[in-house]
Amino acid sequence: MRQPLVAGNWKMNGSSGSVRELIDGILSGLETKAEVLVFPPYLYVQQVRDLLQGSLVKFGVQNASDKLSGAYTGEVSPLMAKDLGCEYVLIGHSERRSIYGETDADVAAKFCALVDNGLGPVLCIGETLQEREAGTTMSVVAEQLNTVLRTAGPERLANFVIAYEPVWAIGTGLTATPGQAQEVHAYIRELLAENDQSMADRTRILYGGSMKADNAAELMAQADVDGGLIGGASLVAADFKVICHAAG
Ligand code: PGA
Repeated sequence: MRQPLVAGNWKMNGSSGSVRELIDGILSGLETKAEVLVFPPYLYVQQVRDLLQGSLVKFGVQNASDKLSGAYTGEVSPLMAKDLGCEYVLIGHSERRSIYGETDADVAAKFCALVDNGLGPVLCIGETLQEREAGTTMSVVAEQLNTVLRTAGPERLANFVIAYEPVWAIGTGLTATPGQAQEVHAYIRELLAENDQSMADRTRILYGGSMKADNAAELMAQADVDGGLIGGASLVAADFKVICHAAG
C-alpha cells in the first residue's frame, strides 16, 4: 500500500509574515493519513523548519544544484538542503524547464546528486498543450522519465516520487479530468514496471495542475493517483487541508 503524499509548492510567493500564518493555518486541525510536505522558497526554509518542529508535516526545497559546493553563484547544494533537514527536493518542474531551460539531462544529473546525498527527488514530468494536441503525451512523458531512469541506474531508484503535471493545467485553472490523469499515471507505472515491478508498486505518482479543494477527491480516487503536487491552492491553508483530507 502506497501512503498518499500531498505536497505544497509555494513557488516564489510569501513573506516571513505570510509564511508564519500559512504554517499556523495548516497545522491547526490538520487531519490526514497522508504524508504532508511543503516546498517554501529557500529563504524561508529555516523559518518553516522551526515552525514545523514537533509536527508531522515535512518540508523540502523547489530545486537544487547537481553540484555539491564551489563557485556556482546563486545555486543551492543538495548538501545544504540536507543540512537544514529537508527530506525531499522538487526537480524538473515545468517552470524550471520552460523558463530556465533545464533539460532532461540536467534534471537527471540533479536526480543523481540528490539520491547520492540522501534526499528524495520529487521528479516532475508532463506534456505541453501543443504536445497533447499532437497526440505525443505518452512519448513526451516516457522520454522525460526514461532519461532519468537510464542515467540514475537501478541502484538509485529506491526512493523517489513522480509528479505528473500536464503543463497546460499548471496555474491555468484547467484541470485534467480524472480519466485523463489516470490514463497517464497508469502509463507511467507501466514504464516503471518495465524496469522493475516492485519499484512500480511502491513509487508514488502525484498529480499536479490546478488540483483544488473541490476536485482533489475525484482525482485522488483514481487507482494510480497517489496524491497531489499543489501550487496555488497550497497558499490557502484551509484549501490545502481539504486536499490533505481528501488524500486519506
Ligand atoms: P497549480 O500548480 O496547482 O497552481 O496549478 C501546480 C504546480 O505547478 O506544481
